[in-house]
Amino acid sequence: MPKLLVCGRGGSGKSTLVALLAQCLGEEGKVLVVDADESNLGLGTMLRLQPPEKTLMDYLGGKPAVREKLMAALRGSGDEKVQMFAEKTTIDDLPPECMYGNGQVAWVRIGKIEHVMEGCACPMGALARSFLNNLIVGKDEWVLVDTEAGVEHFGRGVLEGVDAVLLVAEPSHESVVLVDKAISLCREAGKRHAVVLNKVVEEAEPVLKKMLAERGVEASGVLPYSPAISWANLWGEPLEGGLMGSEINALVGKIKGLVGLI
Ligand SMILES: Nc1ncnc2c1ncn2[C@@H]1O[C@H](COP(=O)(O)OP(=O)(O)O)[C@@H](O)[C@H]1O
Ligand SMILES: [Mg+2]
Repeated sequence: MPKLLVCGRGGSGKSTLVALLAQCLGEEGKVLVVDADESNLGLGTMLRLQPPEKTLMDYLGGKPAVREKLMAALRGSGDEKVQMFAEKTTIDDLPPECMYGNGQVAWVRIGKIEHVMEGCACPMGALARSFLNNLIVGKDEWVLVDTEAGVEHFGRGVLEGVDAVLLVAEPSHESVVLVDKAISLCREAGKRHAVVLNKVVEEAEPVLKKMLAERGVEASGVLPYSPAISWANLWGEPLEGGLMGSEINALVGKIKGLVGLI
């Protein structure tokens, strides 16, 4: 089964989409959610999952240790590619203290910014790249990677080990421009990709679609603006209980088509 990377503008609904997909796909198989956003802290609440005891960064000795490996790689090959995990690591091989799950859905966290003056998030990017490059998934398993806003993870090669990229666009000009840019980066990397429109209110849908069509982009799915999702987020409640309607199931069908499963 595939590894999917979810990208888009900040606030477009990347984490929401990851949580909705995890719930949906968790009914069919096992889902590993990878929190590769070094800043935001809300994904666990959306998933109703406690943070694992350790991030993968903690497990590998902390950021200074990972940064040192990264610097050594840069001094050597000039590439940020660092081997931090055994080749062909399976989900079952992951250290238990780095995973927390409820049976069908589990998550791991790459690492978070914890302290003032600790430096940039480059080590997180290098770690995520190495992890996803080495992670192999079984036939009943899905991996969903939630990313930080924007396109830095493209520059860091985090997408190298994934099978496809989902690009989330909300009704905003900046979101459209970012998706356009991200598509060109997916093409450069040779990655399959699909665009998902989110938070769409009726009047905005044709406008958003037209703006994308002018750039040669067609959406694979449209998720409406849902007051229930917005309220759940305000109250800090998980996204469960069918907060999104049939649109998410339709999107799952499209994603399976994208990655060649149907
Ligand atoms: N379909 C939707 N309907 C209503 N609110 C949504 C929807 N998708 C996301 N939101 C809200 O938008 C905000 C940003 O969503 P989030 O998933 O955190 O974005 P991102 O991860 O891209 O930064 C949250 O308050 C979330 O509840
Ligand atoms: Mg997020």
